[in-house]
Amino acid sequence: MSDSDYQIKQLRSTLSKMEIALSTVEECIVWTDRQGRIKWCNAALERFFDKTRLLLLGNSLVDKLPLLIDGKLLSANLHPVTIALETRKSGKECYEFEKSKQFIILEIAWSFVEITSDLTETDDSASSVLVLRDVTQQREAKRRLEEVNKGLEQQVAKRTQELSEANTKLQMEAEQLQKLLTELQQTQAQLIHTEKMSSLGQLVAGIAHEINNPVNFISGNLAYLQEYICDLLNFVKLYQKYYPNPVLEIEKVANKIDIEFLQTDFPKILRSMEMGTERITQIVLSLRNFSRMDEAEIKAVDIHEGIDSTLLILQHRLKLTAESSEIKVIRDYNQLPLVECYTGQLNQVFMNILANAIDAIEELNAKWTYQEIKNHSSQITIRTSVVDSQWVEVVIADNGTGIPEAIQQHIFNPFFTTKPVGKGTGMGMAISYKIITKNHGGKLTCFSVPGKGTQFTIQIPTKIIREDDNP
Ligand SMILES: Nc1ncnc2c1ncn2[C@@H]1O[C@H](COP(=O)(O)OP(=O)(O)OP(=O)(O)O)[C@@H](O)[C@H]1O
Ligand SMILES: [Mg+2]
Repeated sequence: MSDSDYQIKQLRSTLSKMEIALSTVEECIVWTDRQGRIKWCNAALERFFDKTRLLLLGNSLVDKLPLLIDGKLLSANLHPVTIALETRKSGKECYEFEKSKQFIILEIAWSFVEITSDLTETDDSASSVLVLRDVTQQREAKRRLEEVNKGLEQQVAKRTQELSEANTKLQMEAEQLQKLLTELQQTQAQLIHTEKMSSLGQLVAGIAHEINNPVNFISGNLAYLQEYICDLLNFVKLYQKYYPNPVLEIEKVANKIDIEFLQTDFPKILRSMEMGTERITQIVLSLRNFSRMDEAEIKAVDIHEGIDSTLLILQHRLKLTAESSEIKVIRDYNQLPLVECYTGQLNQVFMNILANAIDAIEELNAKWTYQEIKNHSSQITIRTSVVDSQWVEVVIADNGTGIPEAIQQHIFNPFFTTKPVGKGTGMGMAISYKIITKNHGGKLTCFSVPGKGTQFTIQIPTKIIREDDNP
């Protein structure tokens, strides 16, 4: 066997091995000539068209493989075979193809090949090579996966949204609960405070009642006493007139008891007793006035009476002590009309403001020596006036500590106190604010200069306007 014969044999053997190898490949491989006619194909393409290679060879691949894009037939000049031969470039694209009345998706990779060899010298060496792969299932799986992913994403988004909504709802509920709790605590504190004030009212009323009886008893009998004593003194005078020289024993006693002095001093004593009982009656009246704390009905009253009776209750705190100077109360009262109000509640406001004023003065005094306290003139000024035909004003000012600017905005808040535990509940001003604004439709404002003092201004209508009356 010549060398060339041996080489040809070798080449044939390699070719048939390649043919066998290529027939096992799953992708369809097809080779065309310059005109796009099938020149060679592997077994996969035979299976794809269900035709033997002999029947396929020589057929135009463009005709044999009509491709679609988005359901529309691809024109011949856009077919991968044409593109490969015309542009001489490689590429890869997916197309639709109708096979056995079903649309499949083909991934087609194309390339241009030009081979020059002795064997092809005469041949047209330009060819296109196409590799076709059915990716329908893959695409479908991908589409499904995408769908599932999208569904999952939607579900996650929905769940996230639901969770966020639930969270917002929970937060709102928590806020509402917190608000309710605060309201409840306020109501509770208010009840305790009201109860405290009402107990104080009852106590005062009880004391007033107890004092009233004996005072009436004394003042009622004073007139008789005066009459009897006058009679008795006149009788003595008559005796002295007709018996100017009594027996020694009578004269001794007359000198001892200083009958002259007794006769002149007795009416004075009686007068001061009268004044005393009048004063007690006045005090009892004030106590009774103050004890109208829990009266629920609206009454037209003289506001000055309320202020005076409150001052009377606080009298003991206004006097000079080792810790605090005497507090001078300046009453700058002007003519006021009767004011429709809940008397007890209004007295409670005066009580809270005046007690705070005394506390502030005492706090300031606590920093001073006894001499300084004595020299300092502590005072509370109460000025009443008419604002216009429908409003009156009560201003209560003290020269105590004053309120630091940073806390001025908090003083009407429930439970806000700067006083030690057990001394202040922090409810006084909160309740006063409610009484004036809500229950009487009035205004309560505070002006304070730290170190100088504080001034509270109460403005209330002469005829009650409750907040609920306003639309
Ligand atoms: N005249 C005032 N001078 C200085 N500080 C004042 C005055 N009035 C109120 N305050 C401040 O406002 C705070 C709140 O007053 P509020 O009357 O509500 O409570 P409190 O006096 O502390 O306690 P309570 O409930 O027993 O009255 C006080 O703790 C005090 O710091
Ligand atoms: Mg107070």
